[in-house]
Amino acid sequence: MKTAATELFGIEAPIFAFSHCRDVVVATSKAGGFGVLGAAWMTPEHLEQELKWIDDHIGGLPYGVDMVFSSTSTTVEFDKSPRELLPAENVAFINGLLDADGVAPLPEDEVQGWYADYARNLSFSPATSEALLDVALAHPIRFVVSALGIAPPHVIQRVHDRGIKFGALVGSAKQARKQVEAGVDVIIAQGSEAGGHTGQVTSMVLWPEIVDAVAPVPVLAAGGIGRGRQMAAALALGAEGVWCGSIWLGTVESELTPDMREVLYSATPEDAIITLGYTGKPCRAIRSKYTEAWDRPDAPKPLKQVPLQSILSGEPFRRVERARRKDWMTYAAGQIVGLVNEPTSVKNVIYDMVMEYAETVDRVTRMVEE
Ligand SMILES: Cc1cc2nc3c(=O)[nH]c(=O)nc-3n(C[C@H](O)[C@H](O)[C@H](O)COP(=O)(O)O)c2cc1C
Repeated sequence: MKTAATELFGIEAPIFAFSHCRDVVVATSKAGGFGVLGAAWMTPEHLEQELKWIDDHIGGLPYGVDMVFSSTSTTVEFDKSPRELLPAENVAFINGLLDADGVAPLPEDEVQGWYADYARNLSFSPATSEALLDVALAHPIRFVVSALGIAPPHVIQRVHDRGIKFGALVGSAKQARKQVEAGVDVIIAQGSEAGGHTGQVTSMVLWPEIVDAVAPVPVLAAGGIGRGRQMAAALALGAEGVWCGSIWLGTVESELTPDMREVLYSATPEDAIITLGYTGKPCRAIRSKYTEAWDRPDAPKPLKQVPLQSILSGEPFRRVERARRKDWMTYAAGQIVGLVNEPTSVKNVIYDMVMEYAETVDRVTRMVEE
């Protein structure tokens, strides 16, 4: 295929895989697409490990890194135990529901370990993201993507100075214009049906609006794409490529546990709801007793200050995983989960997508000729 995106990155198919899992990143680039590693929740040491592994396995093919750069992001000072930052009422509420439903508590040393070793690293301060960027720029990455908000000018400059393209996820034409003014090279227009943090405008409306708003800057379409017909629709609406997240969760390469995989395979589009319970921001994830808990009339308000709700979610998520309670399990996923019903591989997803894309273009072209 030949689009602005394939030309820009020297790839065969304009299919971008966002994933927190390095195996998905490598498998995507090897299949002719472009893998992007989600690094937002990693420490610099962890990111270094992951990128070294990718470099050792990707055979020189291009890949990228996605992180949070917002200059306005909230800094939480971890000068005391992260657990002390959480309102006791919120912790007691969710743990009380789990107790009442017979989900065994975690041993106290594990709870302490979670707060000490992991939650402490969830700060999205500008200093944290620059430390991640330092690590990323020491590797042969070809694309840096801002997950939320506008990156500070010197960050975009540092990336450009290395000859690397800068991208940004947006959920509205207004945000897209601001990103282009800030110097972003590629816009990722993410419709509301997407997994993860998401806006309100659906892909069908959002994609062409953003394509028109930022032309000639290339746009990748995201939100609800998992097969060739959807890719054909995205390209027909003016996108130069597709950026997918949820479809990879069902592959054998993904990071999901066997239990979470079963939850994913049985989920319908209606199960991919928007919840504040996951991170404190509107996030599309699979409905479960955990997401429903935060909608109860007696629930305390989810914590809006990033990353407090994520820290709060950590202990219950581990507790539920340990107890293998699928009815309580949730994971960020979009409405496309309805298509994810059995194990497959990244390579198969990409192959099927390209084949169905070609058939679709052929079918639609014949309609015009007849
Ligand atoms: C499990 C999961 C985690 C995500 N985390 C991030 C993230 O950290 N940064 C980001 O820019 N996008 C994140 N996203 C959104 C994806 O980048 C992508 O835009 C979205 O998945 C596209 O819609 P789809 O899920 O319908 O494919 C996440 C998506 C999923 C499914």
